Amino acid sequence: MGKAMVKIVVGLAVAAGLWFGSMAMGFPPVFQGMFVGFAAVGTLMFLLLDAPRTSGPSGWPAAMSVAAFYLILCLGYGAAASLWPQFDPEDEREKIAKLLDGKENPLDPWNTADVTKRIQELDEKAKMLAERIQALGGDQAPVVAQKTVASTATPVGTSVNSDDAMKMGEEQWQLQECYNCHKLRGEGGKKRGPELDNIGSYLTVEEIKQKILDPKSFMAEGFEKEWEKGRMPDKFKDVMSDGEVTALAAWLSTFKNTSVATPKPIKMK
Ligand code: HEC
Repeated sequence: MGKAMVKIVVGLAVAAGLWFGSMAMGFPPVFQGMFVGFAAVGTLMFLLLDAPRTSGPSGWPAAMSVAAFYLILCLGYGAAASLWPQFDPEDEREKIAKLLDGKENPLDPWNTADVTKRIQELDEKAKMLAERIQALGGDQAPVVAQKTVASTATPVGTSVNSDDAMKMGEEQWQLQECYNCHKLRGEGGKKRGPELDNIGSYLTVEEIKQKILDPKSFMAEGFEKEWEKGRMPDKFKDVMSDGEVTALAAWLSTFKNTSVATPKPIKMK
């Protein structure tokens, strides 16, 4: 009995050390709990060492049951990991390939001048496109398929292809994973966020840009709680270039499908 007491006391001391140590190192509470859990399991193991022998199998049968135990564990973990819905390696591979795909814009990722030039080019393209869309009537433009907007928006004689900018906008939608929270064309939006198919009827390119750069600037009607909690990430201003934001906003502004109940954005700032 005394021996067990000593083990429990040591276990408690280790658990306390892990709890406060990990807290001091800035681990999130869930990790602190996990570490304490490990200490508890460890203590239990040491206590079990003192337990009286059971009359279980010995020799080969014992070895076989240990092997079977591990086999079942491996199968269980393997199956759970491959059925896990959040992570599809093929999906990720496609995205990475897209990021690395040099076919369209062959550039050396280590050559900063090259990259800067390309970013400037795209920036310019996106700006021109935004102006053109504005010239077309921006948010008052009639309901037209996005493809049509893009192609009629290309004035004769310019070398810039606005289809390119549209493609870039759509690519940003994928790369920034806006689809995680927003349904568009009937796809995505597993986490709750408004469906955006009619956003072009409410917001101009500039206003959509503002919403992406500062999610608190507009609030979707009926999403007060989500807006309050800041569900839409406030990180895009840090991870996207101005050109990328413009292209994404311009692309989204072509969505004017009035049969979808996109909530009305309310200006907050
Ligand atoms: C983690 C979830 C999440 C992600 C990712 C996200 N949003 Fe949102 N977004 C929301 C939520 C929730 C709202 C509604 C509350 C609000 O207005 O802030 C919203 C609102 C919006 C609105 C206003 C809709 C309306 O009808 O008023 C736009 C436009 C928008 N998001 C665009 C984007 C774009 C573009 C991206 C990708 C760059 C993106 N969002 C990424 C959660 C998200």
